[in-house]
Amino acid sequence: MRIPLNGTTINYTERGLPNGLPVIFIHGFPFSHAMWEPQMLALPNDIRAIAYDVRGHGDSDVGDGHYMIEFFVDDLIALLDHLVIQRAVLCGLSMGGYIALRAIERNPERVKGLILCDTRSEADTNEGKLKRAASVIAIKRDGVKTFAANFVRAVFAPATFQKNPAAIDRIRSIIEATSPIALCSTLIAMAARTDTTPSLPRIAVPTLIMVGEHDAITPPSASRAMSDHIAGAEMHIIPDAAHMSNLENPAVFNENLIAFLKRFL
Ligand code: MLT
Repeated sequence: MRIPLNGTTINYTERGLPNGLPVIFIHGFPFSHAMWEPQMLALPNDIRAIAYDVRGHGDSDVGDGHYMIEFFVDDLIALLDHLVIQRAVLCGLSMGGYIALRAIERNPERVKGLILCDTRSEADTNEGKLKRAASVIAIKRDGVKTFAANFVRAVFAPATFQKNPAAIDRIRSIIEATSPIALCSTLIAMAARTDTTPSLPRIAVPTLIMVGEHDAITPPSASRAMSDHIAGAEMHIIPDAAHMSNLENPAVFNENLIAFLKRFL
């Protein structure tokens, strides 16, 4: 379903009972709502699961191309308003986690629970910001196809290339379909994001943290650091997975996800 929102068009899909527990799935960079398919298919019907495309990604429009994580949070809150959801569980992977962490810092009254997957609360280091700049230049110089080929090598565990090539092809084609403007603008938005670490001790909702054991982009140490600052946070390291833990080991990921969500039912 595509809806006008904050000057652009945002695409989302939903499943489950309309009065079920609202859970919003926020994808990582530069993916789409489709990355959550193994979760959307596995969730019980009493969960109203909504997966949307961040502006510029998937089937959402690019808009004006001026992006900040702050604006992505504006879109998330506007989507909740559109869906008439006062409080939702937010589930974000990587960039989706950056959005969820800023959303709970800014609008805690809209968040019922938090699921942080393969993400971190710290802002980019200077080295990280320069890497983003190099990626923007590389996308402009070499195109999106080359960027996509390099990106999938960085986010999936080597074993996943043998075990689940279909998941890799799916993610590669999602990246290839993303506009270069959206890719570059989102990289700049991530480089400019704030550090949400100081607000972690204020998180007062049930929180689940999951991370792939081989995640090199947002490693288990980053998850542990968040877990140490969030009272009562539950943390799981997902075996046989790197940065795309929900796709690389959906069985273990979903077991933890569903057990956590059942707490709210
Ligand atoms: C993501 O998966 O969202 C990105 O890899 C996050 C990042 O580059 O910081």
